[in-house]
Amino acid sequence: MIVAIDGPAGAGKSSVARGLAARLGIGYLDTGAMYRALTLLAARRDVDPDDGASLASLARDHPVTFLDSSAGRRVCVDGEDVTDAIRAPEISASVSVVATHRDVRAVMVSAQRRALSSGDWVVEGRDIGSNVCPGADVKIFLTASDRERARRRRGELAAWGIVGDESEVLGDLRWRDRLDSEREQDPLVVPEDAVVIDSTALPLDEVVATIARVVGDMTAAARE
Ligand code: CDP
Repeated sequence: MIVAIDGPAGAGKSSVARGLAARLGIGYLDTGAMYRALTLLAARRDVDPDDGASLASLARDHPVTFLDSSAGRRVCVDGEDVTDAIRAPEISASVSVVATHRDVRAVMVSAQRRALSSGDWVVEGRDIGSNVCPGADVKIFLTASDRERARRRRGELAAWGIVGDESEVLGDLRWRDRLDSEREQDPLVVPEDAVVIDSTALPLDEVVATIARVVGDMTAAARE
């Protein structure tokens, strides 16, 4: 079973996907972390975010892996734990440029499909229901108002010790949303058959419970 969760930046996809995967006892794949890890690698090696061919070969040579530890899910590249480093504001500022390239996306999408080819998964990103897993059993499009998304993202950044002005955070989210929605290759769209959930006024556990209900209904219908 595949549960695909797409949506704009800061809508709460990661927390919801993690909570849902734990509740259902299935795997969790954060595809955004893969684009972020590549962006970090490129920054460290001075690879231009506009150079799609070099970025794609970097992605091919340095696959992103995920590790479960007592500190939770860790994101690793070349054996290094980059979980915190990929959340830095300078990575957020260029990740959507890195993610526009056709060649980069081809490498990422095939790695994602490989990872998802067996077992049951909750997978989150921008193009999961529309492109990575068009046959997903359940498709969710998770959104929230701009202000709420900025408020949540500011809180997350504060927890990592990064102080951000709310209007600055909102500017970053809107800029990324525009790049993600307007790019030619695999843009952020609401998949045709997705259930749209506006989480502006919904606490995390209610969003998780709502999606779990959709999954339960789908499983029951499949049994009939
Ligand atoms: O956590 P946040 O919503 O800020 O973003 P993320 O899920 O970590 O994704 C970071 C960026 O990676 C997005 O803004 C997209 O540019 C890109 N991305 C993508 O293009 N396709 C995906 N399936 C996932 C992420």
